[in-house]
Amino acid sequence: MALRFKRTKESAGLLRRDDYRPPEWIVPDSALDIEIFADCFRVRATLDVARAEGSSAPLRLDGEGLRLLGLKIDGRPAAHKLDKTGLTVRIAADRARVETIVEAPLGSEQLGLFAQGGLVCTQCEPQGFRRITFFPDRPDVLSRFRTRITADAARFPILLGNGNADGAGALDGGRHWTAWDDSVPKPCYAFSVVAGDPAARRDRFVTRDGRNVELAIFSEAAEVPRSAHAMAALKAAMAWDEVNYGRVYDLDRYAIVAVPGYRFGAVEAKALNIFDSALLLGHPATSTDGELEAITALVGHEYFHNWSGNRVTIRDWFELALKEGLAVFRDQEFCAALGSPAAKRIQDVKALRAAQFVQDEGPGAHPVRPEQCETIADLYDATVYIKGAEVVRMLRTIAGPQAFGAGLDTFFARHDGTGATCDALIAAVAEHSPDRLETFDRWYANTGTPRITASLRQDGARAILTLVQDGSLPIPIGCALFGPDRKRAEKLVLLEAKRQDFVFEDVPGPLLLSINRTFSAPVQIECERTDTALHALALIDDDPVARWQALQDLAARAILGEAHTAAVIDAIARALDDHAQDPALAAEFAALPAQSRIADGLEAADPGAILRGWRAVQADIGRALAPRWRTFHAADGATGAGVRALRVLALQYLLAADVPDAGALALTDVEGSATLTERYGALRALADSDAAERPAALDLFYRRHRADPALLDKWFCAQALSLRPDTVSAAPRLLTHPDFSLAAPNRLGAIVGGFTANSGAFHHPSGRGYKFVTDVVLASDRIAPAGAARLARPLARWHRIEPVRAALMRAEVARIAGTAGISPELRKAVGAVQP
Ligand code: PHE
Ligand code: ZN
Repeated sequence: MALRFKRTKESAGLLRRDDYRPPEWIVPDSALDIEIFADCFRVRATLDVARAEGSSAPLRLDGEGLRLLGLKIDGRPAAHKLDKTGLTVRIAADRARVETIVEAPLGSEQLGLFAQGGLVCTQCEPQGFRRITFFPDRPDVLSRFRTRITADAARFPILLGNGNADGAGALDGGRHWTAWDDSVPKPCYAFSVVAGDPAARRDRFVTRDGRNVELAIFSEAAEVPRSAHAMAALKAAMAWDEVNYGRVYDLDRYAIVAVPGYRFGAVEAKALNIFDSALLLGHPATSTDGELEAITALVGHEYFHNWSGNRVTIRDWFELALKEGLAVFRDQEFCAALGSPAAKRIQDVKALRAAQFVQDEGPGAHPVRPEQCETIADLYDATVYIKGAEVVRMLRTIAGPQAFGAGLDTFFARHDGTGATCDALIAAVAEHSPDRLETFDRWYANTGTPRITASLRQDGARAILTLVQDGSLPIPIGCALFGPDRKRAEKLVLLEAKRQDFVFEDVPGPLLLSINRTFSAPVQIECERTDTALHALALIDDDPVARWQALQDLAARAILGEAHTAAVIDAIARALDDHAQDPALAAEFAALPAQSRIADGLEAADPGAILRGWRAVQADIGRALAPRWRTFHAADGATGAGVRALRVLALQYLLAADVPDAGALALTDVEGSATLTERYGALRALADSDAAERPAALDLFYRRHRADPALLDKWFCAQALSLRPDTVSAAPRLLTHPDFSLAAPNRLGAIVGGFTANSGAFHHPSGRGYKFVTDVVLASDRIAPAGAARLARPLARWHRIEPVRAALMRAEVARIAGTAGISPELRKAVGAVQP
């Protein structure tokens, strides 16, 4: 065992993008006959293989954990070489029919074909297909798949495959079969099969060219009411993709299966997506609005992959951002169109900063198109996904929406049925917008968050904006100049050199600079702006993202004691007035910046000072605008998610202001509100407070929801997130609660993940927060190393914290690193070197 581990590790080494070679053999057609038994499966595969031009190599098929029962080439047994990772056959001809028969156990690792959540299902991305049958398991080999599935009819009445239904029938011995024809070539990672006895919600969608598509969402019978939201999202996504990208669905069926505990989130397998139930099923009574929006985004995301992923796939896994950046960009735009576009953009910017900018600062920084990796699984991260989406967004910004749209049409048409590259996407768009994209590919190669310094100089009626970058990227920066009362000039500039001047003519008078409007580039901007300037911009900037940023910057200064809270209050009040019609956006303006984001802006943050300042400013805003908070809170939450967001925020302010009846209002919401957003929002607000109603509210929520694991997780999380000073001792006590178990990863994440996100508690000056996290991490590393590594990551950020706390954090990192037998994942997460 030990020996084998060592050998695979050595031979694995690093995977490199440069090592890409085109396939020696392709597989235009594949037919799979899959027989499912109680604890194993058997696959007869018939592959029509063809030699690539100029190739003389033997045929190599990947395969792992498979027992080969038979092999024929063109109907005859053939000599072959079998090893741990596959099968090699010499074939003299340029074309051949390869038939294999394999058998394997239904695994428990959730790879290949396995049993999970009462179903038998698949996980093929990125390299699971090789655990189902021998095949060139690489994304640039696309094949037309025909699948036949056989299983016991009583246990597995439903047998699903990719593509259109192609027959079904009964067999002797209580077994039955279904057949599936997927006529559109796809990479094998987009293969899927599901067998079981799930219930279904069915619907249909008529495409713009008249195709009648049968839709189904499969889940446990009791969960069918909770799939309505996902079904509505699917239909909206199909319509949106037709209208906005001209992408029309290409088959007669589309199904999504909810698998409880599916480890991989969601996969875009062709016409048969598989989702973790928790990411697919939801209802306003049991899910927050944020969770429902995440379902909408994910259903859209996987649907959009039908074109950007399945039909046009990726050449190799280093090009992952091609499909993921495009799919995330498209799901962002889809959600923006369904709700408040400005609020959505602000939320996306917040997510980018929290997940990706932070990654760029640590040891995990890498380009959107990495040059190397240890395992392909490592590529699935915030940089590939979220920054990948920002890069696509900049491509649209620089090319303009029309050229971008035409470029995508070219891209889809040209690369349909093949594995493409990020460069091919740029090239397709550049054909319609030849200028200014010559160096755009640098965005895919560059590591880290670019820094730009901006300064504005006035010379009579001219203004000169000087931008300096620390790299050499083509960076689109939205800029505007405001006079005291109105906008004087606006342009989108493209910063291409290290340092560039941009001149605005005919703009006399005092000017305010509005920069990186719409968050046009994923960069950090450094720019001297007085409190007065920020305040003025926060009042008049007509780009909501830039206006929000000005207000956030001003609020951060007030929290740090560098600006007057009165200015913040004034700016919030004005933004609430101006955006009364868009409550989701109003709620973004009214919320204070997260404490962790304020800390990010400092060289060596003092989390204690930030917490005190944050609470003080919150209380001031609560008192000063109390009548508004009452009005917002009195609104009918049934009106929409934006109104609910404002209701919840209003409660937080009323509680922070110590308004006498605030606790009672919150308890009433915990007790009687129709939506989980309001009930849980009120619970969280109370959990932060000293209100007399706090224990009653916690008790009520617990008793009502203790049977629902996801809601019970939230109950734990609300306490771990509590801003009260006693959280540092209260959170560790949660681990002694009878409903806690170290072996339940979601519950552990709810408590410890909540705790580390709660900067006042985590960074308690005593260092008890760091100790608590370290203790838990070391205990859970033995059970779930990946989860433990995630929880430990905040400890590794000591270099950004003031020296006294930094020393305490380093001591805990050293304690982790010095513990014998910790997992490599954990070691990597805390940035400790290999011993
Ligand atoms: N491809 C999936 C997506 O849509 C995510 C995924 C990654 C699934 C890895 C399985 C394995 O983003
Ligand atoms: Zn994706």
